[in-house]
Amino acid sequence: MLATGAAGVVGGALVVWPLVSQLAPDAQTIAAGAPIDVDLAPVAEGQGIKLTWRGQIIFIRNRTKKEIDEARAVDVATLRDPQTDQARIKAGHDKFLVLYGKCTHLGCIPSGTAAGEPKGDYDGWVCPCHGSHYDSSGRIRRGPAPLNLGIPPYAFTSDTKIKIG
Ligand code: FES
Repeated sequence: MLATGAAGVVGGALVVWPLVSQLAPDAQTIAAGAPIDVDLAPVAEGQGIKLTWRGQIIFIRNRTKKEIDEARAVDVATLRDPQTDQARIKAGHDKFLVLYGKCTHLGCIPSGTAAGEPKGDYDGWVCPCHGSHYDSSGRIRRGPAPLNLGIPPYAFTSDTKIKIG
């Protein structure tokens, strides 16, 4: 099923946001709060998608090698909410980061997932409300937010599919 106005190339960058309508589960499933299956195959390296599950925004990013390397080069002891990058992904699926899209300060939606959105100073996400910067592992690095972006319960059901919930 393809949505009208599906992904296209603008200025060399693939527009990812329209894919959400293809990837998101149907409204009935969302309303029921049931687990949802998400096909990650259309999410190319360096791109991200947003969807909703149980009324919460979920970010999924297919990280570049640079983003993974940056996340792993950090001295975890220096972090406000110390957590390794490896603890925030599923082993063997290091490229994919799945997060709640909710700033841990006062709950705004950070930018950095869709193409063209600012990613902040650490190649991750930045909150437009009070300037919290999260890194490419979704960990808080600067600003008032006290904690890393949360991670919803999910599991890989194949190399390119996950079940959230
Ligand atoms: S709600 Fe994000 S920095 Fe305040």
